[in-house]
Formats: sequence, structure tokens, C-alpha cells
Amino acid sequence: MPQIALFNHKGGVSKTTTVFNLGWMLAEKGHRVLIVDSDPQCNLTGMVLGFKGADELESFYEQQGGNTIRSGLAPAFEAQPKSIEAVQAVEVPGRPGLFLLPGDLRLSEYEVTLGIAQELSAAIQALQNLPGSLSFLISKTAQSVSADFVLVDMSPGLGPINQNLVMTSDYLILPTSPDVFSVMAIDSLSRVLPRWKSWANQASSMPVLRDAAYPFPEPKLRVLGTIVQKFRPRKGLPASAFQRWIDESANAVRQRLTPSLQGAGLLLPSEAYVENGVDDSLNLALIADFNSLISRSQEFLTPVFALTAEQLLAVGTVLENAEESRDAFHQQFSALADKVVSMTTTEVE
Ligand SMILES: Nc1ncnc2c1ncn2[C@@H]1O[C@H](COP(=O)(O)OP(=O)(O)OP(=O)(O)O)[C@@H](O)[C@H]1O
Ligand SMILES: [Mg+2]
Repeated sequence: MPQIALFNHKGGVSKTTTVFNLGWMLAEKGHRVLIVDSDPQCNLTGMVLGFKGADELESFYEQQGGNTIRSGLAPAFEAQPKSIEAVQAVEVPGRPGLFLLPGDLRLSEYEVTLGIAQELSAAIQALQNLPGSLSFLISKTAQSVSADFVLVDMSPGLGPINQNLVMTSDYLILPTSPDVFSVMAIDSLSRVLPRWKSWANQASSMPVLRDAAYPFPEPKLRVLGTIVQKFRPRKGLPASAFQRWIDESANAVRQRLTPSLQGAGLLLPSEAYVENGVDDSLNLALIADFNSLISRSQEFLTPVFALTAEQLLAVGTVLENAEESRDAFHQQFSALADKVVSMTTTEVE
């Protein structure tokens, strides 16, 4: 049951959209998938369940009996006299086999405490159960729905929750957008990820965390690659303004990210990339702007590639064009899902 984190501390680079779309596609291919909303903004929960505002989210929590990522963690964070159990995941409407572990606005209340627990200082004895609790909860919940894959959506930022979730995942995908900020983000990830890896190595070797009720696992993280998304196409290819940033991102990966990941043992063996058609830019997929399909996708709570002819709300050549575009996205997400399945079943040891 590989756990795949989709992370970039840069905001608005299609992390949430990709968790939903890739999760849906994997489920469409017959896998059972748990998508986890660890972002206190709860965008994934809102996207999947179609909530427009805080009120709707609030009444959903009531119906759910408060079952969210936060309630799941409460036994550890609030020292309750019971152990962490699986959260009741929600089956995503319209896509059997796809399950959501709902997010929670109040998860951010745990951020500071987790940060203290992760400093690996003298304070750790009292907080020893916290660093391992997130991965314990996610794997319990994944087991409860017999998930074959877990995809974790994260908030933008370099806080303790993200550090924890990235380092306790098996794989990492870096969603990016074709602009200068993504190039800068790749550069800072080249510095941050090796630092996080050293921290995780240290944490997992400390007896106080190894002997905790929820032991902090040994880091196994491997980076699968990047997804560059939301470019404007011209005649099927990225328009030149976007191509420039796609090329610059690829250079940043080749020159700075790959060497630093290699040094930290965060890459798969090179054959795993080559055999799956991933070149030295580590790019897994290049996905255009969804354009007019995005509003239909939001309206029908369905990825653009899975919209039916009726949902496209068009006739004649407009419908034909929309169908053509949908089918192209379907093919791209299908190829991405195949790569992810193949790369995550590669033997690393
Ligand atoms: N390929 C695409 N085409 C058009 N719009 C897109 C595409 N991908 C994402 N978007 C839109 O871009 C916005 C940002 O996407 P999304 O919320 O997935 O990013 P994010 O990285 O999760 O953001 P955050 O960092 O705030 O969590 C959303 O409005 C989403 O609908
Ligand atoms: Mg998001």
C-alpha cells in the first residue's frame, strides 16, 4: 500500500486538483485509493464533496460524527485514554473505490505541538507519541478501506505537519506550474528535502520515538518526479512563454534537485525512471490548462477527463471539441497513473 505525498511549498500549483484527478484515475483502473486531506484549508474535502463554504463543511462534520484527520489524531495530541483508530473514510460520490479521509480546519491547532515534538530535544519524552501518530492514523484508515494506494494532499508551506507527512510517505510527487516561482520552489526543495531526510533518519533512530505507542517509521521516501501543469497550449504545444519556464524548471531539476536528492538517497534507481519513460528532467506529466472544462468539472464534482457528454453541456462542434479535449486529458492522466503504478511497484532494496 504505497503512500504518495503530493507536495510543493509553493501554493496554487495543482496539488489538490492532482490528488483528486490521479486518485480518481487509479480508482477507475480498478485500484482502491484513499485520498487524505491534510490541508487545514480543506480544499480537497470541499472539491470532492462540493462544499461552497464553511457552513456546508460544518454541517458535514456534524453528520460525519466529527470524523476527520483531526479527530483521528486527538487521542495522541490530547492525551486521551484511548488509542488512535481508523477514521471513517467517505466514499467519493460517482467513483467507487475512491475514499476520502476528510480534512479539518482545526488541524492547524496541532501544528505547534508537533513542531515542539519534532525538535528532538529533552521535551520529547512527554510528546513521544506525536511524531509517529500521523502515519499510524493514515495507515489504519487505509487498511480500513483496503486501499492499494494512498495519496496525501498537503497545504503549501514548510511547517512541521508537512515535514512529517512527506518524510513518512513512501513516494513524493512534486506538482509545479510553468512560472518563475516554481523554478524558485525547485531550488528551495533541493535544500529542504535533504535536511528533512536527515531529521527523519535521526528521529527514527531515537529510542524514545522507536519505543513510542506510535513509532516514528524509518524514512523510505523516494521522489517519483514532477508534474508541470496549467500551461496554455498553442497548436497542441506549450506557448513559448510557458515553454521557457518548463525548460527552466527542467534545468533546475537537472542541475540542482537531482544531485541533492541523489546525495540524500531520495531517488529510485535510475532504471526505474528510464524504464518508465521519465528523462533527466524527472517530469512525469505535462498537463495543459483545462480551460472551459474546469467549470464543468467543478459543477459536477468530476475530473475533467471523466465528464460525460451530457455534463459537457454542449452540442455540435462545441461538444466535439470538448470531447476531444476531455479524451486527450483522459489519455494523459491514464499514462500518469500507469507510470505511478509501475514506479511504485519497483523493488528498491
Ligand atoms: N490544469 C488546470 N487547468 C486549469 N485550472 C487548473 C488546473 N489545475 C488546477 N487548476 C486550478 O488552479 C487552482 C489551484 O489549483 P489547486 O487548488 O489544485 O492548487 P494547490 O497547489 O492545491 O493550491 P494550494 O497550495 O492553495 O493548496 C484551482 O482553482 C484549480 O481549479
Ligand atoms: Mg491545495
